[in-house]
Amino acid sequence: MSNLRPVWIDTDTGVDDAFALVSSFQLSGIEVVGISAVCGNVEIEKTFRNARNVVSLCGKENVPVYKGAEKPLIVPLSPAYNVHGEDGLGGVVIPESKAPIEKENAVDALYKKAKELNGELTIAAVGPLTNIAIALYKYPDFPKYIKEIVIMGGSIAAGGNCSTSAEFNIYGDPHAAQTVMKSGMSITLFPLDVTLKALLSREEIDTLKKEDDAVGQFCYKSSEAPMSLFRNLGLGDYMCLHDTCPIAYLSHPELFSGKKCSVYVETQSKLSIGRTVSDCFAHSEYLFKNKNCTVMLNVDRDKLAKIVLDSFKAYV
Ligand code: RIB
Ligand code: CA
Repeated sequence: MSNLRPVWIDTDTGVDDAFALVSSFQLSGIEVVGISAVCGNVEIEKTFRNARNVVSLCGKENVPVYKGAEKPLIVPLSPAYNVHGEDGLGGVVIPESKAPIEKENAVDALYKKAKELNGELTIAAVGPLTNIAIALYKYPDFPKYIKEIVIMGGSIAAGGNCSTSAEFNIYGDPHAAQTVMKSGMSITLFPLDVTLKALLSREEIDTLKKEDDAVGQFCYKSSEAPMSLFRNLGLGDYMCLHDTCPIAYLSHPELFSGKKCSVYVETQSKLSIGRTVSDCFAHSEYLFKNKNCTVMLNVDRDKLAKIVLDSFKAYV
């Protein structure tokens, strides 16, 4: 086995997921050994197709892509067409992958890989956690084969981005998220508190616009959908690299800082279902006993931006 850290990416391939996939294949110290698609930003047929096609665009057809859950555990699917477009990639068409369609279900393939690597596998979950929760229910010994799970999701003090108090990935399947939070796995969480600081500027995005660079052109064109929403929300002309954060952390942990605390997911309340309830900023009398995850709160934006832009240049 190589001395690179094996990583499995679970993704609801939308635009920022695609940015994360593009970088993941070029970041030092890690090797993407498998990818599973989950419903979320758009329906599973589209997220599966998008993941396959982005992997192919990066020339990485050797990395298998598996199809996972087509609906959340209990709540209805609520796609984010307003962010990623109805196709999930901002309406940007890229060539269809010629890689064979993997017939094995994503959850079974993930468990098999986790057992094969005997506890060395890290999961980077950048969509709703439905596939991971199903793996936990179907294979009760799954946690013992997982080194760490790094998750883009939740919001500690940054408010919600798809309801007043919930972040999209957790809101998308709150029951799955709570299942993961209480699983006992080693969890590192990247909530909106840190990912909303992981921004590429308009000028930085414009450097990707090069005729002879299919990957750069794709990222440049597909970024317009989420960036226009960001602008319309008055947040500025930026591309937010939500899903790149957990994957960049695996290669460059020094870019991020946070703290060990407790995070649980509200699954009962109509008003705040999907909210990540945490004692991260609580006073002593409100602390939970079980510190079940490390929550990242800060990132060195300039260094992250350089690493990400350098990763794109590797395709030229
Ligand atoms: O809240 C941001 C998250 O929701 C990202 O993973 C984005 O891709 C969407 O899935
Ligand atoms: Ca995502």
